Amino acid sequence: MDWQNKLTQLLGITYPVIQAPMLGVTSPAMVAAISNAGGLGSLPVGGLSPEKTRQLIQEVKSSTDKPYSVNLFAHAIPDMDIAEAEVMRRNLNALIENNELQADIPNLENLTFYNYKEQIAILIEEKVPVVSFTFGIPDDTSIAEMKQHGIVLIGTATCTEEAILLAEKNIDAIVLQGIEAGGHRGSFIGGDVPQVGLMALVPMALKAVNIPLIASGAINSGATVKAAFALGATAVQIGTAFITAHESLAIASYKEALATAKDTDTKLTRAFSGRWARGIKNEFMEYVETSGLSTPPYPIQNSLTGPLRADAQNKDNKAFTNLWSGQAAALSANKLSSAEIFNNIIRETENL
Ligand SMILES: Cc1cc2nc3c(=O)[nH]c(=O)nc-3n(C[C@H](O)[C@H](O)[C@H](O)COP(=O)(O)O)c2cc1C
Repeated sequence: MDWQNKLTQLLGITYPVIQAPMLGVTSPAMVAAISNAGGLGSLPVGGLSPEKTRQLIQEVKSSTDKPYSVNLFAHAIPDMDIAEAEVMRRNLNALIENNELQADIPNLENLTFYNYKEQIAILIEEKVPVVSFTFGIPDDTSIAEMKQHGIVLIGTATCTEEAILLAEKNIDAIVLQGIEAGGHRGSFIGGDVPQVGLMALVPMALKAVNIPLIASGAINSGATVKAAFALGATAVQIGTAFITAHESLAIASYKEALATAKDTDTKLTRAFSGRWARGIKNEFMEYVETSGLSTPPYPIQNSLTGPLRADAQNKDNKAFTNLWSGQAAALSANKLSSAEIFNNIIRETENL
């Protein structure tokens, strides 16, 4: 099977298979493992401090000399509605007390939000070869700077209109995130969050834009990779299938939940972060969604719930942390190394 195409050549990789950046799950070791196996490993740094961003990039670079990508959250930071955030803060503190968790939600004036613009200089200094982004489009200056330094840019779209907006900015390739996908929706046009299935999205976007399209959502096997290529995708991006990998940062109970999840066990929620994201249903989601409270927008809610989620993770308590997952979780819960998961998918695809 000939895997080479326009995108593999642009990226300098062997297989058009990308390990999805998964903040909180993807470690530098996972990124390096996939890049060393001939795919494109993606390091998530969305919302992280400039110092942490540099440290993680350097960890990847110390383990691979192959191309990899770094993933940004390209959103604007909204003004905080103090009254709304304070009510949420107090309720989260009460939830912590009532559930034997040990976390303190910081006062609102102590919340820190990092903007992607603070990370661009580091990406350039560290000579990152590929930058992918989600939640929006970087401003024109940032795009121009990265392009001047030869960085390949990959955007994220959840509907055709977003793909067209990315194409108008001369982005090199687009991840099409179907509604099946785990984690945050990359959506950035206003109005209701787009809920387009991958089967509709790839052919629709293909008609509208003329740049390589990367299919993402419920891809975890030879059959699903082939299906994406048959639809017209140039590459695939795989997330959930790597959550159970040895190099994953996911806690044990999260990995267990993936292995037994039914196709109806995930849903979209704003409860954890203030942005729509797909995860396995749990107590925390239920609490926020039935509380009648107004959920502050991303990244405010994300920062408010952060300490609670961190404590739940320390206690391996899956009831109070985000269990991001795509719809086909159980099909891909192989407790193997990242490279083994990757190589199995490549082999299966070649055998079909
Ligand atoms: C745990 C988790 C975290 C994610 N974090 C990010 C992220 O930081 N940046 C990003 O662009 N996409 C993120 N995504 C979305 C993936 O890029 C991709 O769209 C999705 O994993 C594809 O669907 P699948 O999970 O069914 O393979 C995340 C997905 C998961 C499951």
